[in-house]
Amino acid sequence: MPNSIIIKKKIKKFNKVISVTGDKSISIRWVLFSSLGQGVSRAKNLLISEDVLAAIKAVKKLGIKVKLQKKNECKIFGKGINGYVYKKNLTIDAQNSGTLGRLILGLLVDTPNKIRLVGDKSLSKRDFKRVADPLKKFGAKFQLTNKKCLPLTINGSSRLKPIKYSEILGSAQCKSAVIFAGMRTKGTTIIKAKKSRNHTELLCKHLSLPVTVKKYKNYEIIKVKKVKKIKKLNYIIPSDISSSAFFIALTILSENSKLIIKNVNINSSRVGIISILKMMGAKIELKNKKIYKGEKNADIKIESTKKIKAINCPVGLNSSAIDEFLVIFLVAAKAKGVSLFKDLSELNQKESPRLKWGAKILNMMGINTILTKSSIKIYGNPNLILKKKIIIRSFLKDHRIFMTSVVAALSFGGSWEIHDKDSINSSFPDFLNILGKLNKR
Ligand code: S3P
Repeated sequence: MPNSIIIKKKIKKFNKVISVTGDKSISIRWVLFSSLGQGVSRAKNLLISEDVLAAIKAVKKLGIKVKLQKKNECKIFGKGINGYVYKKNLTIDAQNSGTLGRLILGLLVDTPNKIRLVGDKSLSKRDFKRVADPLKKFGAKFQLTNKKCLPLTINGSSRLKPIKYSEILGSAQCKSAVIFAGMRTKGTTIIKAKKSRNHTELLCKHLSLPVTVKKYKNYEIIKVKKVKKIKKLNYIIPSDISSSAFFIALTILSENSKLIIKNVNINSSRVGIISILKMMGAKIELKNKKIYKGEKNADIKIESTKKIKAINCPVGLNSSAIDEFLVIFLVAAKAKGVSLFKDLSELNQKESPRLKWGAKILNMMGINTILTKSSIKIYGNPNLILKKKIIIRSFLKDHRIFMTSVVAALSFGGSWEIHDKDSINSSFPDFLNILGKLNKR
């Protein structure tokens, strides 16, 4: 089977109701929390993707029994907060997942034996110093490749000290790793965090763990105390807004189409894409809003948008849209006028340097951009119709580059050859199947 896809036609108009798969951030966190829970935790609608399977493999290596069942159900047989049992010289492979790689280090701050953490080619280029630095302050020891990257070894400490930590990148992964480490440390760990997704904090609240959050205008103060026991965690995972994003953008860019995506997580720290696209004139409605274990979920209704407006994107929305900017840039490509997205250097810290890739894809489509290290200006063209051949090969496995390119091909026409199809397995293996449903009469 070729690991690429050829697209030569725009998508026909559609009017459908779909469901996308479970949220990746919540799925990985469910695995990690349940691995420390007391008793059997059950999940429904767990995302079965390579990143989540890597999390399952990791906790299995730490001595925890996991049973994957049909229909995306899973059971984890936790043995309590100190229940990990594992042999010396253990290696954990986080594969492509920054979330797994960074969060699990927080759970291992007190490991009595050295553990090696490795990842794939893309993850091995990413910054792990950002999470090793605060964990070192607790007392854990690290050896990082080139002082920054994987493979790394962590050597935990039995005499952890609570820390004061200022999280300035807006990284939920760093914040969560420190919360996990604080949960294993006597005393009070205090985090001053720039706003980022808060699934870890909401799960702590749902589990009645000693973690408090005080919100201020531009930051939050999180206090974490040592946790003695974690209850089992039964959870029905809502659908992923980051996976929905490809279908949201496709609907906006297509002609005379409508789409409803059922039961998507609309946590306010994740819905930047909706605010941004609405500012650009998109018709998006949230229906059937519900709260489930502290998380907001809703159906998302989207309609094609004839006149897309350019945007000077407020930087305050960056963190809540961080995984969606590639498709947001596509929408800006069709806007009337010049759009500006700034303060986005974090985008180059993802599975591949996505700010650069955003510009690259648009340039291949004939859209002018001005790119700096942290910003992009996009000269939109509302009449854009592609006729040429475009080849996308990202080299570093990046699922979101593949899926964004597919949306571009189906929205703007031309003849596209898009490589690295397998990359979707890390977050959204069902992407092409669900796309197929939009084409069915
Ligand atoms: C994630 C946090 C974000 C995001 C990633 C998932 C999480 O990364 O880009 O896809 O689940 O905590 P950063 O923490 O590096 O911003």
